[in-house]
Amino acid sequence: MSVTFSWLGHSAFHMDIDGHQIVIDPFLTGNPLAAAGPSELNPEIIFLSHGHGDHTGDTVQIAKRSGAKVVCNFEVGNWLMHQGLQNVHQGNPGGGYDHGFVHCKFTVAFHSSSMPDGSYGGVACGFLLTTKAANKRIYFAGDTALFSDMQLIGERKIDIAFLPIGDNFTMGPADSIQAIKWLRPKYAFPIHYNTFDMISQNAGDWANRVSSETDTQPIVLDPGGSYTLE
Ligand code: NI
Ligand code: MN
Repeated sequence: MSVTFSWLGHSAFHMDIDGHQIVIDPFLTGNPLAAAGPSELNPEIIFLSHGHGDHTGDTVQIAKRSGAKVVCNFEVGNWLMHQGLQNVHQGNPGGGYDHGFVHCKFTVAFHSSSMPDGSYGGVACGFLLTTKAANKRIYFAGDTALFSDMQLIGERKIDIAFLPIGDNFTMGPADSIQAIKWLRPKYAFPIHYNTFDMISQNAGDWANRVSSETDTQPIVLDPGGSYTLE
């Protein structure tokens, strides 16, 4: 029983959770770091943090082909259904639901959310995923500023936290260090950086700070790299 995740660049992930495939924020087409194409992914579930195009990405195409269930906030879900998707599971921050092999609780994220066509995208979210068989707890922060209620999320004993470090649109490296001190995960993984010049960061420098200033182990991969949580 294990969780293997592959970083596809930006905030996009493929994960194998005890043999079940999921995808998070599949922005692949138009993503200069994309390590996979939308036709290569056959998830059971797609988790979407908010409506921005660098997160919704290829969701409609992947879901139409694979039949994946899309888990997202209420307004993003309505928009997806207008695009012709039927298997949509809508939630909102604070709400959890058992999807069988994984439980998903929506967390708050301090960020905006609008759809690629400019329509209202509800509130931005993160996810707290708890895998059933391996009992791993995964915190995917989404696009967010630092917020002190990360201390509450940290009380849930996080195995791995996926945190933005790109700055400008989300928290940057310094705030992510504070986030890690509050979340106290076993592992931390940086996302939402280097995709565009405006969010260029040095992940090696970030990892050195995580190692020297916190008790958390940083994991840094190139796009396409994978890691298994045993
Ligand atoms: Ni965003
Ligand atoms: Mn974004």
